[in-house]
Amino acid sequence: DPHQNFVQCLYNYPNITNSISNVVYTQTNSSYSYVLDLTIQNRRFSNSSSKPLVIVTPLDVTQILATIICSQRHGLQIRTRSGGHDYEGLSYVAEVPFVLLDLSNLQQIAVDEESRTAWVQSGATLGELYYRISQKSKTLGFPAGVCASVGIGGHFSGGGYGLMMRKYGTAADNVIDAHIIDVNGNLLDRQAMGEDLFWAIRGGGGASFGVIVDWKVKLVPVPSTVTVFNVSRTLEENATEIIQKWQLVANKLDERIMIRVDISRVNSSQHGKLTIQASFVSLFLGGVEDLIPLMQNSLPELGLDRNDCKETSWIGSAVFINAVLIGTSGNEPPETMLNRTQIYLGKGKGKSDYVSQPIPVEGLQGLWRLLYDAKVENFQLQFAPYGGRMYEISESEISFPHRSGYIYHIHYGVIWQEEGDEIAQRHMNFIRKVYKYMEPYVSNSPRAAYVNYRDLDIGVNNNGYTSYTQAKIWGLKYFNNNFKRLARVKTKVDPDNFFRNEQSIPTLSIEE
Ligand code: FDA
Repeated sequence: DPHQNFVQCLYNYPNITNSISNVVYTQTNSSYSYVLDLTIQNRRFSNSSSKPLVIVTPLDVTQILATIICSQRHGLQIRTRSGGHDYEGLSYVAEVPFVLLDLSNLQQIAVDEESRTAWVQSGATLGELYYRISQKSKTLGFPAGVCASVGIGGHFSGGGYGLMMRKYGTAADNVIDAHIIDVNGNLLDRQAMGEDLFWAIRGGGGASFGVIVDWKVKLVPVPSTVTVFNVSRTLEENATEIIQKWQLVANKLDERIMIRVDISRVNSSQHGKLTIQASFVSLFLGGVEDLIPLMQNSLPELGLDRNDCKETSWIGSAVFINAVLIGTSGNEPPETMLNRTQIYLGKGKGKSDYVSQPIPVEGLQGLWRLLYDAKVENFQLQFAPYGGRMYEISESEISFPHRSGYIYHIHYGVIWQEEGDEIAQRHMNFIRKVYKYMEPYVSNSPRAAYVNYRDLDIGVNNNGYTSYTQAKIWGLKYFNNNFKRLARVKTKVDPDNFFRNEQSIPTLSIEE
Protein backbone atom coordinates (compact mmCIF):
# COMPACT_ATOMS: atom_id res chain seq x y z
CA ASP A 1 0.00 0.00 0.00
CA PRO A 2 1.84 3.13 -1.20
CA HIS A 3 0.47 5.45 1.40
CA GLN A 4 1.40 3.20 4.32
CA ASN A 5 4.87 2.77 2.88
CA PHE A 6 5.07 6.52 2.50
CA VAL A 7 4.15 7.07 6.16
CA GLN A 8 6.69 4.44 7.27
CA CYS A 9 9.36 6.13 5.15
CA LEU A 10 8.55 9.44 6.80
CA TYR A 11 8.70 8.06 10.34
CA ASN A 12 12.01 6.35 9.66
CA TYR A 13 13.59 9.24 7.83
CA PRO A 14 17.07 10.19 9.13
CA ASN A 15 17.09 13.14 11.55
CA ILE A 16 13.33 13.46 11.46
CA THR A 17 11.92 15.19 14.52
CA ASN A 18 9.81 13.17 16.97
CA SER A 19 6.81 15.35 16.39
CA ILE A 20 6.36 14.03 12.84
CA SER A 21 3.52 11.72 13.89
CA ASN A 22 1.58 14.78 15.12
CA VAL A 23 1.58 16.35 11.68
CA VAL A 24 0.67 13.36 9.51
CA TYR A 25 -3.01 12.75 8.74
CA THR A 26 -4.20 9.69 6.86
CA GLN A 27 -7.82 9.39 5.73
CA THR A 28 -8.75 7.45 8.86
CA ASN A 29 -7.43 10.16 11.18
CA SER A 30 -10.32 11.96 12.91
CA SER A 31 -8.78 15.38 12.11
CA TYR A 32 -8.17 14.61 8.42
CA SER A 33 -11.25 16.40 7.06
CA TYR A 34 -10.81 19.34 9.37
CA VAL A 35 -7.21 19.90 8.28
CA LEU A 36 -8.08 19.41 4.61
CA ASP A 37 -11.01 21.85 4.69
CA LEU A 38 -9.26 24.53 6.68
CA THR A 39 -7.99 26.50 3.68
CA ILE A 40 -10.14 25.21 0.84
CA GLN A 41 -11.01 28.73 -0.25
CA ASN A 42 -13.03 27.67 -3.27
CA ARG A 43 -16.02 25.56 -2.12
CA ARG A 44 -16.43 24.27 -5.67
CA PHE A 45 -13.82 21.71 -4.59
CA SER A 46 -15.12 20.90 -1.11
CA ASN A 47 -16.77 17.67 -2.18
CA SER A 48 -14.14 16.65 -4.65
CA SER A 49 -13.48 12.91 -4.55
CA SER A 50 -9.87 13.54 -5.55
CA LYS A 51 -8.58 13.87 -2.01
CA PRO A 52 -5.03 13.41 -0.73
CA LEU A 53 -4.08 9.97 0.64
CA VAL A 54 -2.05 11.68 3.32
CA ILE A 55 -1.76 15.25 4.60
CA VAL A 56 1.50 16.45 6.13
CA THR A 57 1.62 19.83 7.90
CA PRO A 58 5.37 20.18 8.49
CA LEU A 59 6.86 22.17 11.34
CA ASP A 60 10.36 22.39 9.89
CA VAL A 61 12.52 21.95 6.82
CA THR A 62 13.46 18.32 7.54
CA GLN A 63 9.80 17.32 7.56
CA ILE A 64 9.30 18.99 4.17
CA LEU A 65 12.28 17.36 2.53
CA ALA A 66 11.38 13.95 3.97
CA THR A 67 7.90 14.37 2.46
CA ILE A 68 9.41 15.18 -0.94
CA ILE A 69 11.81 12.23 -0.88
CA CYS A 70 9.35 9.67 0.53
CA SER A 71 6.63 10.65 -1.97
CA GLN A 72 8.99 9.99 -4.85
CA ARG A 73 10.13 6.69 -3.38
CA HIS A 74 6.58 5.42 -3.06
CA GLY A 75 5.09 6.72 -6.29
CA LEU A 76 2.97 9.51 -4.86
CA GLN A 77 2.71 13.03 -6.21
CA ILE A 78 2.74 16.16 -4.09
CA ARG A 79 0.48 19.17 -3.97
CA THR A 80 1.90 22.07 -1.96
CA ARG A 81 -0.54 24.39 -0.25
CA SER A 82 0.22 27.68 1.44
CA GLY A 83 -2.99 29.74 1.72
CA GLY A 84 -5.23 27.52 -0.42
CA HIS A 85 -6.55 30.36 -2.61
CA ASP A 86 -5.81 28.70 -5.94
CA TYR A 87 -8.88 29.33 -8.13
CA GLU A 88 -8.84 25.80 -9.53
CA GLY A 89 -7.89 24.07 -6.29
CA LEU A 90 -4.58 22.86 -7.71
CA SER A 91 -2.94 23.10 -4.29
CA TYR A 92 -5.17 20.42 -2.76
CA VAL A 93 -7.04 18.48 -5.50
CA ALA A 94 -5.52 15.94 -7.90
CA GLU A 95 -6.76 13.05 -10.02
CA VAL A 96 -3.70 10.98 -9.06
CA PRO A 97 -2.62 9.43 -5.73
CA PHE A 98 -1.00 12.29 -3.85
CA VAL A 99 0.25 13.76 -0.60
CA LEU A 100 -0.92 17.20 0.47
CA LEU A 101 2.03 19.18 1.82
CA ASP A 102 0.26 21.90 3.75
CA LEU A 103 2.54 24.71 4.93
CA SER A 104 0.06 26.40 7.24
CA ASN A 105 2.27 25.77 10.29
CA LEU A 106 5.06 27.81 8.72
CA GLN A 107 3.83 31.29 9.58
CA GLN A 108 6.90 33.05 10.91
CA ILE A 109 7.57 36.63 9.94
CA ALA A 110 10.72 38.52 10.97
CA VAL A 111 10.67 42.22 10.15
CA ASP A 112 13.93 44.16 10.34
CA GLU A 113 13.08 47.84 10.17
CA GLU A 114 16.73 48.91 10.06
CA SER A 115 17.55 47.11 6.84
CA ARG A 116 13.95 47.55 5.62
CA THR A 117 13.60 43.86 4.90
CA ALA A 118 11.58 40.95 6.19
CA TRP A 119 11.78 37.16 6.04
CA VAL A 120 8.34 35.64 5.70
CA GLN A 121 7.45 31.96 5.59
CA SER A 122 5.20 30.65 2.82
CA GLY A 123 2.38 29.60 5.15
CA ALA A 124 1.88 33.13 6.50
CA THR A 125 -0.85 35.31 5.02
CA LEU A 126 -0.69 38.76 3.44
CA GLY A 127 -2.67 40.15 6.38
CA GLU A 128 -0.16 38.78 8.86
CA LEU A 129 2.74 40.26 6.90
CA TYR A 130 1.10 43.69 6.71
CA TYR A 131 0.22 43.62 10.40
CA ARG A 132 3.76 42.60 11.49
CA ILE A 133 5.29 45.36 9.37
CA SER A 134 2.93 47.92 10.90
CA GLN A 135 3.89 46.79 14.40
CA LYS A 136 7.48 47.75 13.65
CA SER A 137 7.07 50.88 11.56
CA LYS A 138 4.39 53.36 10.46
CA THR A 139 6.35 54.33 7.37
CA LEU A 140 7.09 50.96 5.80
CA GLY A 141 4.76 48.77 3.80
CA PHE A 142 4.75 46.00 1.22
CA PRO A 143 3.15 46.01 -2.26
CA ALA A 144 1.12 42.80 -2.49
CA GLY A 145 -2.53 41.71 -2.82
CA VAL A 146 -5.61 43.16 -1.19
CA CYS A 147 -7.13 40.13 0.50
CA ALA A 148 -5.73 39.44 3.98
CA SER A 149 -6.21 35.66 3.88
CA VAL A 150 -4.18 35.04 0.70
CA GLY A 151 -1.13 32.83 1.31
CA ILE A 152 2.42 34.07 0.75
CA GLY A 153 3.62 30.90 -1.04
CA GLY A 154 1.25 30.93 -3.99
CA HIS A 155 0.91 34.70 -4.19
CA PHE A 156 4.61 35.63 -4.34
CA SER A 157 5.47 32.80 -6.72
CA GLY A 158 2.81 33.93 -9.21
CA GLY A 159 3.47 37.71 -9.07
CA GLY A 160 1.04 39.30 -6.61
CA TYR A 161 -0.33 42.80 -6.94
CA GLY A 162 -2.40 45.27 -4.99
CA LEU A 163 -3.03 48.99 -4.89
CA MET A 164 0.65 49.98 -4.66
CA MET A 165 1.48 48.20 -7.93
CA ARG A 166 1.82 51.46 -9.87
CA LYS A 167 4.36 52.80 -7.40
CA TYR A 168 6.28 49.64 -6.47
CA GLY A 169 5.39 46.84 -8.91
CA THR A 170 4.36 43.36 -7.85
CA ALA A 171 5.20 41.42 -4.70
CA ALA A 172 7.58 39.25 -6.73
CA ASP A 173 9.46 42.39 -7.90
CA ASN A 174 10.33 43.04 -4.27
CA VAL A 175 11.59 39.57 -3.36
CA ILE A 176 15.36 39.58 -2.81
CA ASP A 177 16.06 36.08 -1.49
CA ALA A 178 14.25 32.80 -0.80
CA HIS A 179 14.78 29.24 0.39
CA ILE A 180 13.54 26.43 -1.80
CA ILE A 181 13.71 22.67 -1.28
CA ASP A 182 14.34 21.00 -4.61
CA VAL A 183 13.38 17.57 -5.92
CA ASN A 184 16.55 16.04 -4.38
CA GLY A 185 15.74 17.40 -0.96
CA ASN A 186 18.37 20.15 -1.02
CA LEU A 187 17.61 23.38 0.81
CA LEU A 188 18.84 26.23 -1.40
CA ASP A 189 19.03 29.98 -0.86
CA ARG A 190 19.30 32.48 -3.70
CA GLN A 191 23.00 31.99 -4.14
CA ALA A 192 22.80 28.21 -4.06
CA MET A 193 19.78 27.94 -6.35
CA GLY A 194 21.29 30.33 -8.90
CA GLU A 195 19.75 33.27 -10.72
CA ASP A 196 17.76 31.14 -13.20
CA LEU A 197 15.72 29.32 -10.58
CA PHE A 198 15.41 32.47 -8.47
CA TRP A 199 14.06 34.20 -11.59
CA ALA A 200 11.58 31.37 -12.22
CA ILE A 201 9.98 31.37 -8.77
CA ARG A 202 9.21 35.11 -9.04
CA GLY A 203 6.18 34.84 -11.32
CA GLY A 204 6.36 31.37 -12.82
CA GLY A 205 4.33 29.76 -10.06
CA GLY A 206 6.18 27.83 -7.36
CA ALA A 207 4.57 24.44 -7.84
CA SER A 208 6.70 23.38 -10.84
CA PHE A 209 10.08 23.85 -9.20
CA GLY A 210 10.07 22.64 -5.61
CA VAL A 211 8.76 23.86 -2.28
CA ILE A 212 9.56 27.41 -1.29
CA VAL A 213 9.94 27.65 2.48
CA ASP A 214 10.38 31.38 2.95
CA TRP A 215 11.07 34.64 1.19
CA LYS A 216 13.15 37.72 1.94
CA VAL A 217 11.43 40.89 0.81
CA LYS A 218 12.38 44.51 0.48
CA LEU A 219 9.95 46.72 2.39
CA VAL A 220 8.91 49.96 0.74
CA PRO A 221 8.54 53.47 2.18
CA VAL A 222 4.98 54.72 2.72
CA PRO A 223 3.86 58.07 4.18
CA SER A 224 2.50 58.01 7.73
CA THR A 225 -0.80 59.31 6.33
CA VAL A 226 -2.38 57.84 3.21
CA THR A 227 -5.85 58.36 1.75
CA VAL A 228 -8.42 55.80 0.60
CA PHE A 229 -11.81 56.03 -1.03
CA ASN A 230 -14.50 53.77 -2.43
CA VAL A 231 -16.97 55.77 -4.52
CA SER A 232 -19.77 54.08 -6.46
CA ARG A 233 -21.60 55.30 -9.56
CA THR A 234 -24.43 53.51 -11.33
CA LEU A 235 -25.15 53.72 -15.05
CA GLU A 236 -27.73 56.39 -14.20
CA GLU A 237 -24.95 58.33 -12.50
CA ASN A 238 -22.76 58.30 -15.61
CA ALA A 239 -20.66 55.26 -14.77
CA THR A 240 -20.00 54.61 -18.47
CA GLU A 241 -18.66 58.11 -19.16
CA ILE A 242 -16.48 58.00 -16.06
CA ILE A 243 -15.03 54.64 -17.09
CA GLN A 244 -14.37 55.94 -20.60
CA LYS A 245 -12.35 58.79 -19.13
CA TRP A 246 -10.74 56.47 -16.59
CA GLN A 247 -9.46 54.29 -19.46
CA LEU A 248 -7.64 57.34 -20.87
CA VAL A 249 -5.99 58.50 -17.66
CA ALA A 250 -5.76 55.68 -15.08
CA ASN A 251 -2.37 54.38 -16.29
CA LYS A 252 -0.90 57.87 -16.69
CA LEU A 253 -1.68 59.34 -13.28
CA ASP A 254 0.87 60.19 -10.64
CA GLU A 255 2.16 56.79 -9.54
CA ARG A 256 1.22 57.44 -5.92
CA ILE A 257 -2.41 56.80 -6.87
CA MET A 258 -4.12 53.68 -8.12
CA ILE A 259 -7.85 53.68 -8.87
CA ARG A 260 -9.34 50.23 -9.37
CA VAL A 261 -12.83 49.89 -10.85
CA ASP A 262 -15.07 47.14 -9.45
CA ILE A 263 -18.11 46.43 -11.61
CA SER A 264 -21.14 44.61 -10.28
CA ARG A 265 -24.93 44.50 -10.52
CA VAL A 266 -26.92 46.14 -7.76
CA ASN A 267 -30.48 46.96 -6.91
CA SER A 268 -30.48 50.75 -7.07
CA SER A 269 -32.50 52.13 -4.17
CA GLN A 270 -32.70 55.46 -5.95
CA HIS A 271 -34.17 54.04 -9.12
CA GLY A 272 -35.85 50.97 -7.66
CA LYS A 273 -34.40 48.63 -10.27
CA LEU A 274 -31.39 46.56 -11.15
CA THR A 275 -28.48 48.43 -12.59
CA ILE A 276 -24.75 48.13 -13.20
CA GLN A 277 -22.55 49.87 -10.69
CA ALA A 278 -18.89 50.85 -10.87
CA SER A 279 -17.04 51.31 -7.60
CA PHE A 280 -13.85 53.35 -7.79
CA VAL A 281 -11.59 51.92 -5.09
CA SER A 282 -8.41 53.82 -4.48
CA LEU A 283 -5.27 54.17 -2.41
CA PHE A 284 -3.30 57.42 -2.58
CA LEU A 285 0.12 57.56 -0.94
CA GLY A 286 -0.41 61.03 0.50
CA GLY A 287 -2.93 63.24 2.26
CA VAL A 288 -6.37 64.35 1.08
CA GLU A 289 -5.12 67.92 0.45
CA ASP A 290 -2.93 66.62 -2.36
CA LEU A 291 -5.43 64.09 -3.61
CA ILE A 292 -8.38 66.42 -4.28
CA PRO A 293 -6.59 68.72 -6.79
CA LEU A 294 -5.02 65.67 -8.45
CA MET A 295 -8.48 64.17 -8.99
CA GLN A 296 -9.97 67.48 -10.13
CA ASN A 297 -7.29 67.74 -12.79
CA SER A 298 -7.35 64.19 -14.02
CA LEU A 299 -10.76 62.63 -13.39
CA PRO A 300 -13.21 65.45 -12.53
CA GLU A 301 -16.03 63.29 -13.98
CA LEU A 302 -15.98 61.19 -10.82
CA GLY A 303 -16.82 64.23 -8.68
CA LEU A 304 -14.68 63.05 -5.78
CA ASP A 305 -15.48 64.98 -2.61
CA ARG A 306 -13.22 65.16 0.42
CA ASN A 307 -16.04 63.59 2.44
CA ASP A 308 -15.64 60.47 0.29
CA CYS A 309 -12.04 60.18 1.43
CA LYS A 310 -10.54 58.68 4.52
CA GLU A 311 -7.10 59.60 5.79
CA THR A 312 -5.48 56.74 7.65
CA SER A 313 -2.23 54.89 8.31
CA TRP A 314 -0.90 52.45 5.74
CA ILE A 315 -2.19 49.47 7.76
CA GLY A 316 -5.52 51.30 8.04
CA SER A 317 -5.63 51.44 4.24
CA ALA A 318 -5.00 47.69 4.06
CA VAL A 319 -7.94 47.11 6.44
CA PHE A 320 -10.12 49.42 4.35
CA ILE A 321 -9.29 47.77 1.02
CA ASN A 322 -9.67 44.26 2.44
CA ALA A 323 -13.08 45.35 3.76
CA VAL A 324 -14.21 46.31 0.24
CA LEU A 325 -13.77 42.67 -0.68
CA ILE A 326 -15.39 41.09 2.35
CA GLY A 327 -18.13 43.68 2.73
CA THR A 328 -17.36 45.09 6.18
CA SER A 329 -17.12 48.77 7.15
CA GLY A 330 -13.35 49.21 6.87
CA ASN A 331 -13.10 50.76 10.33
CA GLU A 332 -12.03 47.54 12.01
CA PRO A 333 -8.79 47.46 14.07
CA PRO A 334 -5.55 46.30 12.38
CA GLU A 335 -5.83 42.95 14.22
CA THR A 336 -8.59 42.05 11.78
CA MET A 337 -5.79 41.46 9.27
CA LEU A 338 -4.80 38.39 11.30
CA ASN A 339 -8.14 36.71 10.73
CA ARG A 340 -7.52 33.78 8.37
CA THR A 341 -11.12 32.76 7.85
CA GLN A 342 -13.06 35.95 7.35
CA ILE A 343 -13.65 35.69 3.64
CA TYR A 344 -17.14 34.59 2.66
CA LEU A 345 -16.80 31.09 1.36
CA GLY A 346 -18.51 30.31 -1.87
CA LYS A 347 -17.99 28.30 -4.99
CA GLY A 348 -16.18 30.33 -7.56
CA LYS A 349 -14.61 30.61 -10.98
CA GLY A 350 -12.22 33.34 -12.09
CA LYS A 351 -10.59 34.51 -15.31
CA SER A 352 -8.32 37.34 -16.38
CA ASP A 353 -7.45 39.60 -19.30
CA TYR A 354 -5.18 42.49 -20.21
CA VAL A 355 -6.33 45.57 -22.13
CA SER A 356 -4.08 47.57 -24.50
CA GLN A 357 -6.62 49.90 -26.14
CA PRO A 358 -9.53 51.66 -24.44
CA ILE A 359 -12.71 49.62 -24.89
CA PRO A 360 -15.06 51.70 -27.08
CA VAL A 361 -18.37 52.80 -25.62
CA GLU A 362 -20.36 50.23 -27.66
CA GLY A 363 -18.13 47.55 -26.20
CA LEU A 364 -18.86 48.69 -22.67
CA GLN A 365 -22.58 48.94 -23.35
CA GLY A 366 -22.71 45.43 -24.75
CA LEU A 367 -20.90 44.23 -21.65
CA TRP A 368 -23.42 45.96 -19.39
CA ARG A 369 -26.28 44.21 -21.23
CA LEU A 370 -24.63 40.86 -20.74
CA LEU A 371 -24.05 41.53 -17.04
CA TYR A 372 -27.50 42.97 -16.55
CA ASP A 373 -29.15 39.81 -17.86
CA ALA A 374 -26.90 37.41 -15.94
CA LYS A 375 -28.74 34.56 -14.24
CA VAL A 376 -26.14 34.19 -11.52
CA GLU A 377 -25.97 34.89 -7.80
CA ASN A 378 -22.94 37.10 -7.80
CA PHE A 379 -20.31 38.35 -10.21
CA GLN A 380 -17.70 41.03 -10.24
CA LEU A 381 -15.29 42.49 -12.77
CA GLN A 382 -12.26 44.41 -11.57
CA PHE A 383 -10.21 46.74 -13.75
CA ALA A 384 -6.76 47.36 -12.25
CA PRO A 385 -4.71 50.09 -13.98
CA TYR A 386 -1.09 49.70 -15.02
CA GLY A 387 1.53 52.41 -15.58
CA GLY A 388 4.18 53.78 -13.25
CA ARG A 389 6.65 51.18 -12.03
CA MET A 390 4.97 48.42 -14.07
CA TYR A 391 6.12 50.16 -17.27
CA GLU A 392 9.69 50.57 -16.03
CA ILE A 393 10.37 46.88 -15.39
CA SER A 394 11.17 44.80 -18.46
CA GLU A 395 9.20 41.71 -19.42
CA SER A 396 12.17 39.44 -18.69
CA GLU A 397 13.35 41.00 -15.41
CA ILE A 398 11.50 38.30 -13.46
CA SER A 399 9.28 35.54 -14.83
CA PHE A 400 6.05 37.50 -14.23
CA PRO A 401 5.81 38.99 -17.75
CA HIS A 402 2.90 41.43 -18.07
CA ARG A 403 4.38 44.94 -18.18
CA SER A 404 4.32 47.80 -20.70
CA GLY A 405 1.73 47.96 -23.42
CA TYR A 406 -1.22 47.35 -21.13
CA ILE A 407 -3.55 50.04 -19.84
CA TYR A 408 -5.18 47.77 -17.32
CA HIS A 409 -5.74 44.25 -16.13
CA ILE A 410 -9.20 42.64 -15.81
CA HIS A 411 -10.27 40.13 -13.22
CA TYR A 412 -13.57 38.31 -13.78
CA GLY A 413 -15.15 36.46 -10.91
CA VAL A 414 -18.40 34.63 -10.33
CA ILE A 415 -19.41 33.29 -6.92
CA TRP A 416 -22.36 31.20 -5.85
CA GLN A 417 -23.60 29.34 -2.77
CA GLU A 418 -26.42 27.19 -4.07
CA GLU A 419 -25.67 23.46 -4.43
CA GLY A 420 -26.01 21.40 -7.59
CA ASP A 421 -24.23 20.64 -10.84
CA GLU A 422 -26.70 22.50 -12.98
CA ILE A 423 -26.30 25.66 -10.88
CA ALA A 424 -22.52 25.34 -11.08
CA GLN A 425 -22.70 24.87 -14.85
CA ARG A 426 -24.87 27.94 -15.25
CA HIS A 427 -22.38 30.10 -13.35
CA MET A 428 -19.40 28.70 -15.23
CA ASN A 429 -21.18 29.20 -18.55
CA PHE A 430 -21.92 32.79 -17.68
CA ILE A 431 -18.31 33.73 -16.98
CA ARG A 432 -17.19 31.89 -20.13
CA LYS A 433 -19.73 33.84 -22.14
CA VAL A 434 -18.44 37.14 -20.74
CA TYR A 435 -14.87 36.07 -21.54
CA LYS A 436 -15.88 35.21 -25.10
CA TYR A 437 -17.67 38.51 -25.50
CA MET A 438 -14.52 40.39 -24.41
CA GLU A 439 -12.24 38.77 -26.97
CA PRO A 440 -12.19 41.64 -29.51
CA TYR A 441 -11.39 44.19 -26.81
CA VAL A 442 -8.46 42.59 -25.03
CA SER A 443 -4.89 41.46 -25.77
CA ASN A 444 -4.45 38.75 -28.39
CA SER A 445 -1.77 36.38 -29.72
CA PRO A 446 -1.40 35.51 -27.01
CA ARG A 447 -4.50 36.54 -25.07
CA ALA A 448 -2.60 37.29 -21.86
CA ALA A 449 -3.73 35.79 -18.55
CA TYR A 450 -2.51 35.99 -14.95
CA VAL A 451 -1.31 32.73 -13.41
CA ASN A 452 -2.51 33.74 -9.95
CA TYR A 453 -6.04 33.88 -11.38
CA ARG A 454 -5.66 30.27 -12.42
CA ASP A 455 -8.02 29.19 -15.18
CA LEU A 456 -7.94 25.63 -16.51
CA ASP A 457 -10.21 26.62 -19.44
CA ILE A 458 -7.20 28.07 -21.25
CA GLY A 459 -5.55 24.64 -21.50
CA VAL A 460 -4.17 21.81 -19.39
CA ASN A 461 -1.41 19.21 -19.41
CA ASN A 462 -2.40 15.55 -19.78
CA ASN A 463 -1.91 14.23 -16.28
CA GLY A 464 1.05 16.51 -15.97
CA TYR A 465 2.88 15.07 -19.02
CA THR A 466 2.63 17.39 -21.96
CA SER A 467 5.23 18.57 -24.43
CA TYR A 468 6.41 22.14 -24.40
CA THR A 469 4.79 22.64 -27.80
CA GLN A 470 1.38 21.51 -26.51
CA ALA A 471 1.74 23.42 -23.26
CA LYS A 472 2.37 26.63 -25.22
CA ILE A 473 -1.41 26.89 -25.66
CA TRP A 474 -1.78 28.01 -22.06
CA GLY A 475 1.86 28.75 -21.23
CA LEU A 476 2.26 31.68 -23.60
CA LYS A 477 -0.88 33.27 -22.16
CA TYR A 478 0.48 33.23 -18.64
CA PHE A 479 4.16 33.79 -19.38
CA ASN A 480 4.50 35.09 -22.95
CA ASN A 481 8.19 35.28 -23.95
CA ASN A 482 9.28 33.97 -20.55
CA PHE A 483 7.66 30.58 -21.07
CA LYS A 484 10.60 29.01 -22.90
CA ARG A 485 13.09 30.09 -20.23
CA LEU A 486 10.76 28.72 -17.55
CA ALA A 487 10.76 25.38 -19.39
CA ARG A 488 14.56 25.49 -19.57
CA VAL A 489 14.81 26.10 -15.82
CA LYS A 490 12.30 23.32 -15.19
CA THR A 491 14.31 20.89 -17.34
CA LYS A 492 17.43 21.71 -15.36
CA VAL A 493 16.03 21.54 -11.82
CA ASP A 494 13.36 18.82 -12.15
CA PRO A 495 14.25 16.81 -15.29
CA ASP A 496 11.96 13.90 -14.38
CA ASN A 497 9.01 16.23 -13.89
CA PHE A 498 8.17 15.15 -10.35
CA PHE A 499 6.58 18.49 -9.46
CA ARG A 500 3.75 18.46 -11.94
CA ASN A 501 0.10 19.36 -12.20
CA GLU A 502 -2.52 20.39 -14.77
CA GLN A 503 -0.65 23.61 -15.51
CA SER A 504 2.91 22.95 -14.40
CA ILE A 505 5.80 24.11 -16.56
CA PRO A 506 6.80 21.27 -18.93
CA THR A 507 10.32 19.96 -19.42
CA LEU A 508 11.91 20.41 -22.84
CA SER A 509 12.73 17.49 -25.10
CA ILE A 510 16.03 17.54 -26.99
CA GLU A 511 14.43 18.82 -30.23
CA GLU A 512 12.66 21.61 -28.38
P1 FDA B 1 -2.39 28.03 -2.78
O1 FDA B 1 -1.87 27.48 -1.51
O2 FDA B 1 -3.69 27.51 -3.29
O3 FDA B 1 -1.26 27.89 -3.89
C1 FDA B 1 -1.40 28.35 -5.22
C2 FDA B 1 -0.41 27.64 -6.13
O4 FDA B 1 0.92 27.85 -5.69
C3 FDA B 1 -0.59 26.12 -6.16
O5 FDA B 1 -0.19 25.65 -7.42
C4 FDA B 1 0.38 25.66 -5.11
O6 FDA B 1 0.78 24.31 -5.25
C5 FDA B 1 1.54 26.61 -5.29
N1 FDA B 1 2.26 26.86 -4.04
C6 FDA B 1 1.73 27.36 -2.90
N2 FDA B 1 2.68 27.48 -1.96
C7 FDA B 1 3.83 27.03 -2.51
C8 FDA B 1 5.16 26.91 -2.01
N3 FDA B 1 5.48 27.29 -0.78
N4 FDA B 1 6.10 26.39 -2.82
C9 FDA B 1 5.79 26.01 -4.09
N5 FDA B 1 4.54 26.12 -4.61
C10 FDA B 1 3.57 26.63 -3.83
N6 FDA B 1 -3.96 37.94 -6.40
C11 FDA B 1 -3.37 39.15 -6.54
O7 FDA B 1 -2.35 39.28 -7.22
N7 FDA B 1 -3.89 40.24 -5.91
C12 FDA B 1 -4.97 40.16 -5.12
O8 FDA B 1 -5.39 41.17 -4.56
C13 FDA B 1 -5.60 38.89 -4.95
N8 FDA B 1 -6.71 38.74 -4.17
C14 FDA B 1 -7.29 37.51 -4.02
C15 FDA B 1 -8.42 37.36 -3.22
C16 FDA B 1 -9.04 36.12 -3.06
C17 FDA B 1 -10.25 35.99 -2.19
C18 FDA B 1 -8.51 34.99 -3.75
C19 FDA B 1 -9.17 33.66 -3.63
C20 FDA B 1 -7.38 35.14 -4.55
C21 FDA B 1 -6.77 36.38 -4.69
N9 FDA B 1 -5.63 36.54 -5.49
C22 FDA B 1 -5.05 37.79 -5.61
C23 FDA B 1 -5.04 35.40 -6.18
C24 FDA B 1 -3.91 34.79 -5.36
O9 FDA B 1 -2.76 35.60 -5.52
C25 FDA B 1 -3.58 33.38 -5.84
O10 FDA B 1 -4.70 32.56 -5.70
C26 FDA B 1 -2.38 32.80 -5.07
O11 FDA B 1 -1.79 31.78 -5.83
C27 FDA B 1 -2.80 32.29 -3.72
O12 FDA B 1 -1.73 31.86 -2.95
P2 FDA B 1 -2.03 30.78 -1.81
O13 FDA B 1 -0.74 30.44 -1.18
O14 FDA B 1 -3.16 31.26 -0.95
O15 FDA B 1 -2.62 29.61 -2.69
